[in-house]
Amino acid sequence: MRRVTHPAPAALDARHLTQAYGPMTVLRGVSLSVAPGEVVAVTGPSGSGKSTLLHLLGGLDTPQGGEVWWAGTRVDTLGTQVRAARRAGQLGLVFQHHYLLDDLNVLENVLLPCRLSGQGDEARAAGLLRRVGLAGREGTLPGVLSGGERQRVAVARALAARPAAVLADEPTGSLDRANAQAVAALLVTLAREEGAGVLLVTHDERLARHADRTLHLLDGQFTDDAPDFEPAT
Ligand SMILES: Nc1ncnc2c1ncn2[C@@H]1O[C@H](COP(=O)(O)OP(=O)(O)OP(=O)(O)O)[C@@H](O)[C@H]1O
Ligand SMILES: [Mg+2]
Repeated sequence: MRRVTHPAPAALDARHLTQAYGPMTVLRGVSLSVAPGEVVAVTGPSGSGKSTLLHLLGGLDTPQGGEVWWAGTRVDTLGTQVRAARRAGQLGLVFQHHYLLDDLNVLENVLLPCRLSGQGDEARAAGLLRRVGLAGREGTLPGVLSGGERQRVAVARALAARPAAVLADEPTGSLDRANAQAVAALLVTLAREEGAGVLLVTHDERLARHADRTLHLLDGQFTDDAPDFEPAT
Protein backbone atom coordinates (compact mmCIF):
# COMPACT_ATOMS: atom_id res chain seq x y z
CA MET A 1 0.00 0.00 0.00
CA ARG A 2 1.25 3.45 -0.85
CA ARG A 3 1.79 5.71 2.08
CA VAL A 4 0.74 9.34 1.68
CA THR A 5 2.46 11.73 4.04
CA HIS A 6 0.71 14.97 4.79
CA PRO A 7 2.84 18.00 5.62
CA ALA A 8 2.04 19.64 8.95
CA PRO A 9 -0.59 22.34 8.47
CA ALA A 10 0.43 25.98 8.72
CA ALA A 11 0.38 27.33 12.26
CA LEU A 12 -1.53 30.35 10.92
CA ASP A 13 -3.21 30.93 7.61
CA ALA A 14 -4.98 34.03 6.33
CA ARG A 15 -6.70 33.78 2.94
CA HIS A 16 -7.82 36.89 1.04
CA LEU A 17 -8.79 38.88 4.12
CA THR A 18 -10.76 42.04 3.47
CA GLN A 19 -11.86 44.57 6.06
CA ALA A 20 -13.38 48.03 5.71
CA TYR A 21 -14.55 50.58 8.24
CA GLY A 22 -17.24 52.70 6.62
CA PRO A 23 -15.85 54.10 3.39
CA MET A 24 -12.28 53.22 4.36
CA THR A 25 -10.95 49.87 3.13
CA VAL A 26 -8.14 48.76 5.44
CA LEU A 27 -7.33 45.29 4.07
CA ARG A 28 -7.81 44.44 0.39
CA GLY A 29 -7.33 40.71 0.13
CA VAL A 30 -4.41 39.91 2.42
CA SER A 31 -3.05 36.35 2.47
CA LEU A 32 -0.23 34.95 4.56
CA SER A 33 0.88 31.68 6.01
CA VAL A 34 3.17 31.06 8.99
CA ALA A 35 4.75 27.61 9.29
CA PRO A 36 5.30 25.88 12.65
CA GLY A 37 8.46 27.36 14.19
CA GLU A 38 8.63 30.16 11.61
CA VAL A 39 8.93 33.80 12.66
CA VAL A 40 7.33 36.37 10.35
CA ALA A 41 7.53 40.11 10.95
CA VAL A 42 4.90 42.54 9.65
CA THR A 43 5.81 46.19 9.21
CA GLY A 44 3.99 49.10 7.67
CA PRO A 45 3.12 52.74 8.34
CA SER A 46 0.85 53.75 11.19
CA GLY A 47 -2.74 53.16 10.15
CA SER A 48 -1.85 50.61 7.45
CA GLY A 49 -3.91 47.89 9.13
CA LYS A 50 -1.32 45.83 11.02
CA SER A 51 -3.34 45.64 14.24
CA THR A 52 -6.53 45.05 12.24
CA LEU A 53 -4.83 42.09 10.57
CA LEU A 54 -3.64 40.70 13.91
CA HIS A 55 -7.11 41.02 15.43
CA LEU A 56 -8.61 39.11 12.52
CA LEU A 57 -5.90 36.44 12.69
CA GLY A 58 -6.43 36.13 16.44
CA GLY A 59 -10.18 35.72 15.99
CA LEU A 60 -10.83 38.79 18.13
CA ASP A 61 -12.77 40.20 15.16
CA THR A 62 -14.51 38.43 12.29
CA PRO A 63 -13.29 39.40 8.80
CA GLN A 64 -15.77 40.84 6.32
CA GLY A 65 -14.19 38.68 3.63
CA GLY A 66 -11.71 35.82 3.53
CA GLU A 67 -10.76 32.99 5.87
CA VAL A 68 -8.66 32.49 9.02
CA TRP A 69 -7.17 29.09 9.84
CA TRP A 70 -5.32 27.97 12.98
CA ALA A 71 -3.26 24.78 12.71
CA GLY A 72 -5.33 23.44 9.84
CA THR A 73 -8.79 24.38 11.16
CA ARG A 74 -10.92 27.21 9.81
CA VAL A 75 -11.98 29.45 12.70
CA ASP A 76 -13.58 32.61 11.27
CA THR A 77 -16.86 30.69 10.80
CA LEU A 78 -16.99 29.58 14.45
CA GLY A 79 -19.14 31.31 17.05
CA THR A 80 -17.42 33.79 19.34
CA GLN A 81 -17.40 31.55 22.42
CA VAL A 82 -16.23 28.42 20.64
CA ARG A 83 -13.50 30.47 19.00
CA ALA A 84 -12.42 32.02 22.31
CA ALA A 85 -12.13 28.58 23.90
CA ARG A 86 -10.08 27.35 20.97
CA ARG A 87 -7.90 30.47 21.05
CA ALA A 88 -6.81 29.75 24.62
CA GLY A 89 -5.22 26.48 23.51
CA GLN A 90 -3.99 27.39 20.05
CA LEU A 91 -2.77 30.99 20.17
CA GLY A 92 -0.59 33.04 22.44
CA LEU A 93 -1.10 36.80 22.37
CA VAL A 94 1.42 39.48 23.37
CA PHE A 95 0.39 43.10 22.99
CA GLN A 96 2.12 46.41 23.57
CA HIS A 97 0.61 46.51 27.03
CA HIS A 98 0.92 43.30 28.96
CA TYR A 99 -2.72 42.80 30.05
CA LEU A 100 -1.69 40.81 33.10
CA LEU A 101 -4.38 40.47 35.75
CA ASP A 102 -3.26 42.52 38.74
CA ASP A 103 -5.04 40.35 41.32
CA LEU A 104 -3.31 37.17 40.18
CA ASN A 105 0.31 36.46 40.92
CA VAL A 106 2.91 35.86 38.20
CA LEU A 107 2.45 32.07 38.10
CA GLU A 108 -1.36 32.32 38.09
CA ASN A 109 -1.19 34.76 35.17
CA VAL A 110 1.01 32.40 33.17
CA LEU A 111 -1.35 29.51 33.96
CA LEU A 112 -4.50 31.32 32.75
CA PRO A 113 -4.47 29.97 29.17
CA CYS A 114 -3.77 26.48 30.57
CA ARG A 115 -6.79 26.70 32.86
CA LEU A 116 -8.96 27.80 29.93
CA SER A 117 -7.72 25.15 27.52
CA GLY A 118 -6.71 22.22 29.71
CA GLN A 119 -3.25 22.25 28.07
CA GLY A 120 0.01 22.90 29.89
CA ASP A 121 0.60 22.66 33.60
CA GLU A 122 2.27 24.30 36.59
CA ALA A 123 5.65 22.67 36.04
CA ARG A 124 5.70 23.91 32.46
CA ALA A 125 4.63 27.41 33.53
CA ALA A 126 7.38 27.51 36.16
CA GLY A 127 9.89 26.31 33.56
CA LEU A 128 8.89 29.10 31.18
CA LEU A 129 9.22 31.66 33.97
CA ARG A 130 12.72 30.36 34.61
CA ARG A 131 13.53 30.73 30.90
CA VAL A 132 12.41 34.37 30.89
CA GLY A 133 14.57 35.09 33.92
CA LEU A 134 11.83 35.19 36.54
CA ALA A 135 12.59 32.12 38.63
CA GLY A 136 11.57 32.76 42.21
CA ARG A 137 9.06 35.46 41.26
CA GLU A 138 6.09 33.09 40.85
CA GLY A 139 4.22 34.50 43.85
CA THR A 140 4.83 38.16 43.01
CA LEU A 141 1.92 40.38 41.94
CA PRO A 142 2.42 42.07 38.54
CA GLY A 143 2.00 45.53 40.04
CA VAL A 144 5.46 45.50 41.60
CA LEU A 145 7.28 44.23 38.50
CA SER A 146 9.17 46.46 36.06
CA GLY A 147 7.81 46.98 32.55
CA GLY A 148 10.31 44.56 31.05
CA GLU A 149 9.55 41.94 33.70
CA ARG A 150 5.83 42.23 33.01
CA GLN A 151 6.37 41.73 29.28
CA ARG A 152 8.51 38.67 30.05
CA VAL A 153 5.58 37.27 32.08
CA ALA A 154 3.36 37.96 29.04
CA VAL A 155 5.82 36.01 26.84
CA ALA A 156 5.75 33.04 29.24
CA ARG A 157 1.94 33.21 29.36
CA ALA A 158 1.72 33.29 25.55
CA LEU A 159 3.59 29.98 25.31
CA ALA A 160 2.18 28.23 28.39
CA ALA A 161 -0.59 26.24 26.70
CA ARG A 162 1.67 24.97 23.88
CA PRO A 163 0.01 27.15 21.22
CA ALA A 164 0.41 26.57 17.49
CA ALA A 165 1.24 30.25 17.05
CA VAL A 166 1.99 33.47 18.89
CA LEU A 167 0.63 36.82 17.71
CA ALA A 168 2.61 39.81 18.92
CA ASP A 169 1.58 43.44 18.26
CA GLU A 170 4.37 45.87 19.14
CA PRO A 171 5.16 43.59 22.09
CA THR A 172 8.05 45.75 23.19
CA GLY A 173 6.59 49.14 22.27
CA SER A 174 6.49 50.28 25.87
CA LEU A 175 10.07 49.23 26.69
CA ASP A 176 13.48 50.85 26.35
CA ARG A 177 15.77 49.58 23.63
CA ALA A 178 17.77 47.06 25.66
CA ASN A 179 14.66 45.57 27.25
CA ALA A 180 12.85 45.52 23.90
CA GLN A 181 15.66 43.53 22.30
CA ALA A 182 15.84 41.13 25.24
CA VAL A 183 12.09 40.47 25.31
CA ALA A 184 11.81 40.05 21.54
CA ALA A 185 14.79 37.68 21.49
CA LEU A 186 13.20 35.61 24.27
CA LEU A 187 9.88 35.41 22.48
CA VAL A 188 11.50 34.32 19.23
CA THR A 189 13.91 31.84 20.84
CA LEU A 190 11.26 30.14 22.96
CA ALA A 191 8.72 30.00 20.13
CA ARG A 192 11.27 28.42 17.78
CA GLU A 193 12.21 25.85 20.43
CA GLU A 194 8.54 25.01 20.92
CA GLY A 195 7.80 24.87 17.21
CA ALA A 196 5.24 27.66 17.47
CA GLY A 197 4.84 30.06 14.55
CA VAL A 198 5.21 33.75 15.35
CA LEU A 199 3.64 36.77 13.68
CA LEU A 200 5.38 39.86 15.01
CA VAL A 201 4.09 43.35 14.22
CA THR A 202 6.78 45.94 14.82
CA HIS A 203 7.95 49.39 13.78
CA ASP A 204 11.45 48.50 14.85
CA GLU A 205 13.87 47.25 12.23
CA ARG A 206 16.12 45.78 14.92
CA LEU A 207 13.26 43.57 16.09
CA ALA A 208 12.30 42.58 12.54
CA ARG A 209 15.84 41.23 12.14
CA HIS A 210 14.88 38.38 14.46
CA ALA A 211 12.36 37.15 11.88
CA ASP A 212 12.83 34.58 9.13
CA ARG A 213 11.06 36.95 6.74
CA THR A 214 9.36 40.33 6.80
CA LEU A 215 6.12 41.37 5.11
CA HIS A 216 5.30 45.03 4.46
CA LEU A 217 1.70 46.19 4.60
CA LEU A 218 0.85 49.18 2.43
CA ASP A 219 -2.47 50.37 0.98
CA GLY A 220 -4.25 47.30 2.27
CA GLN A 221 -1.91 44.74 0.72
CA PHE A 222 1.50 43.22 1.22
CA THR A 223 4.10 44.86 -0.98
CA ASP A 224 7.57 43.79 -2.04
CA ASP A 225 8.88 47.33 -1.67
CA ALA A 226 11.60 48.14 0.81
CA PRO A 227 10.19 48.95 4.23
CA ASP A 228 9.91 52.52 5.36
CA PHE A 229 11.08 52.07 8.92
CA GLU A 230 10.66 54.85 11.38
CA PRO A 231 14.02 56.20 12.49
CA ALA A 232 15.40 54.56 15.61
CA THR A 233 15.09 56.75 18.66
N1 LIG B 1 -12.93 49.35 14.96
C1 LIG B 1 -12.59 50.31 14.08
N2 LIG B 1 -13.49 51.21 13.63
C2 LIG B 1 -13.16 52.15 12.74
N3 LIG B 1 -11.93 52.30 12.22
C3 LIG B 1 -10.99 51.43 12.63
C4 LIG B 1 -11.25 50.40 13.57
N4 LIG B 1 -10.11 49.70 13.78
C5 LIG B 1 -9.17 50.27 13.01
N5 LIG B 1 -9.69 51.32 12.32
C6 LIG B 1 -8.98 52.15 11.35
O1 LIG B 1 -8.30 51.29 10.45
C7 LIG B 1 -7.02 51.80 10.10
C8 LIG B 1 -5.96 50.77 10.43
O2 LIG B 1 -5.83 50.69 11.84
P1 LIG B 1 -4.78 49.72 12.55
O3 LIG B 1 -4.94 49.90 14.00
O4 LIG B 1 -4.95 48.36 12.00
O5 LIG B 1 -3.39 50.35 12.04
P2 LIG B 1 -1.89 49.93 12.43
O6 LIG B 1 -1.19 49.59 11.18
O7 LIG B 1 -1.91 48.94 13.51
O8 LIG B 1 -1.32 51.33 12.96
P3 LIG B 1 -0.25 51.61 14.17
O9 LIG B 1 1.09 51.32 13.58
O10 LIG B 1 -0.43 53.07 14.43
O11 LIG B 1 -0.59 50.74 15.33
C9 LIG B 1 -6.88 53.10 10.88
O12 LIG B 1 -7.18 54.17 10.03
C10 LIG B 1 -7.89 52.99 11.99
O13 LIG B 1 -8.38 54.25 12.37
MG1 LIG C 1 -1.32 48.94 15.53
